[in-house]
Amino acid sequence: MAFSPETHAAAAEIIARYPAGRSRSALLPLLHLVQAEQNCVTTEGVQFCAEQLGLTAAEVGAVATFYTMYKRRPVGDYLVSVCTNLSCALLGGDEVFARVAEQLGVGHDETTADGSITLEHAECLAACDYAPVMTVNYEFYDQVDPDSAEAIVTGLRAGERPVPTRGGPLCSFAETSRQLAGFADPRPEGVAGPGVGEPSVAGLLLAEADGWTAEQAPAPLVPAAAQASKDAQAEAGASAPVPAPAGALVTGSTERKGN
Ligand code: FES
Repeated sequence: MAFSPETHAAAAEIIARYPAGRSRSALLPLLHLVQAEQNCVTTEGVQFCAEQLGLTAAEVGAVATFYTMYKRRPVGDYLVSVCTNLSCALLGGDEVFARVAEQLGVGHDETTADGSITLEHAECLAACDYAPVMTVNYEFYDQVDPDSAEAIVTGLRAGERPVPTRGGPLCSFAETSRQLAGFADPRPEGVAGPGVGEPSVAGLLLAEADGWTAEQAPAPLVPAAAQASKDAQAEAGASAPVPAPAGALVTGSTERKGN
């Protein structure tokens, strides 16, 4: 299957964002782009990226198979990720996963028979302060329990889009992938969702209430005399090294050795 003209145009737009000669830096967003069209990164998607960027399929494949956000099998409209890493596991993440797995009749990295929902165990989703968490298409649902997680999935199966706890409103996996490729959510409400929640700033509020202040900044790792020597050397250029003052800590040389 050839990629659509829209994907070709979007690929050109992504590549144009990078300096000439460095188009390979566009690989990560391009992989999200092909995923937006095929709901996973297929062999064709790898080939497409390779052709666009002048890379080999092996080079693209090495990147695509390294990151878990690039899927090798088609994902449903909704990717449900349940964190079962330490903080979430301690607060019931495994029970949440078990309930959703039972409800959907699928296990890790599997998709429902109708192709609508994919379930996965997730490593830490960087929201431990809201544990246990789950995401749908990377939008957060905080402090879930088996019942609330089941209600979210019931909503998805009914064709609804349950409102995430934070961030923008839910979109499909394809739409999310396109945003990850670097194209803004066209919905005005897409950037209007609530941001930081109370657990994220609990420590800050406590410190403020108790009048805590930060300690004095620690001493710099590079003593001032050595830094002054390095700065002077940089100004003079590598060909005219400036000797370091006696007793100064010098951690390396900026001289290049000729072959
Ligand atoms: S362990 Fe679950 S978000 Fe960090």
